[in-house]
Amino acid sequence: MAFTKKTVRDIDVDGKRVLVRVDFNVPIADGVVGDTTRISAALPTIKYLVEHNARVILMSHLGRPTGDGPQPELSLAPVAKKLAEMSGLDVQFVDDTYGDKATAAVNALQPGHVLVLENVRFDKREKKNDPEIAKKLASYGDVFVLDAFGTAHRAQGSVVGPAAYIPAVAGFLLEKEVDTLTGIFADPARPFVAIVGGSKVSSKIGVLDHLIDSADTLIIGGGMAYTFFLAKGYTVGTSLQEPDWVDRAKEMMEKAEKKGVKLLLPIDNIVADHFGEDATGETVDSDKIPADRMGMDIGPKTEALYAEAIAGAKTVFWNGPMGVFEMDQFAHGTKAVAEAVADNAGCTSIIGGGDSVAAVNKFGLADKMSWISTGGGASMELVEGKALPGVEALLDA
Ligand code: 3PG
Repeated sequence: MAFTKKTVRDIDVDGKRVLVRVDFNVPIADGVVGDTTRISAALPTIKYLVEHNARVILMSHLGRPTGDGPQPELSLAPVAKKLAEMSGLDVQFVDDTYGDKATAAVNALQPGHVLVLENVRFDKREKKNDPEIAKKLASYGDVFVLDAFGTAHRAQGSVVGPAAYIPAVAGFLLEKEVDTLTGIFADPARPFVAIVGGSKVSSKIGVLDHLIDSADTLIIGGGMAYTFFLAKGYTVGTSLQEPDWVDRAKEMMEKAEKKGVKLLLPIDNIVADHFGEDATGETVDSDKIPADRMGMDIGPKTEALYAEAIAGAKTVFWNGPMGVFEMDQFAHGTKAVAEAVADNAGCTSIIGGGDSVAAVNKFGLADKMSWISTGGGASMELVEGKALPGVEALLDA
């Protein structure tokens, strides 16, 4: 599906002040940036703007501050430093977002240089999309570029606000993410195998629903499988379960059957007597989970079943782990799925945000995937078929 919004390619940025919303919401511990994926992902747009002689003003949130003023542990200063290291560009940082200090730094910015503003969420008005701050941020730029895909589902001041006052276009990351994640549904190469895991049916019902409309095979794993087991009439012991969602799970199975979509559930599971690092697993069939055991991972027969389905795929979309992959003894199922996707070199593989991205990174298979989304919530909303407010606010192509 072609991207329907204007992008940085469509505007003249030479000498202009370009206000860019990026998603630099990265893990930081003791002032040191951990995973730099989101910074790398923002580089193509930033470099393009610098190469085209723009004055680049970057803004982002980091974490979820209270909004009552600066919180040093959530300052973007270490991110600005990391960006300078990674890009080799002239990057300055100002510890202000909406005040005189920020205005002065913006006014002093030279073409080809980059300025990072302080965390937009240090002020409550950001989350409320208050027009006052939207106007203030817009005053920093001649044009606005949204490249914060991971935040594009938030109708917040720095995401949608400036578009009301200055021309607003997409950056390269946003364009690629939207193109890729909506493209799967427009015209996927078939068979299209979707893999959905994670703990809750309730949080992914929209995703499951939409995937059943498009996929040829839907593979279910993780904690949500146990609610599906209840829907099949199995008992699930002390496994994670959502009794209020059993009917919806049943509906999903019926819908899949009606549409001819193969819905695969685990046939065996690794179960343990408690949840913890010291827990050990044993393998049981799905209809034989003992009353005092909880499911922690998919079992070996399921791994083989899922790997076979994945091997035949031309398109794979994956969101959510198959088990408690953070604990090594329960990571096998998630790893097996990641390896099956990686081994299928002929397929387009799209990893949709959150824990599945962490899993693919943990197993060192990231470079085997066609696309790894930088958005968690945002990618899920797109996959549910929802429009993202940040994207909607941009100029139509
Ligand atoms: C994310 O990490 O998913 C994005 O940066 C959005 O963050 P938020 O959920 O705090 O809005």
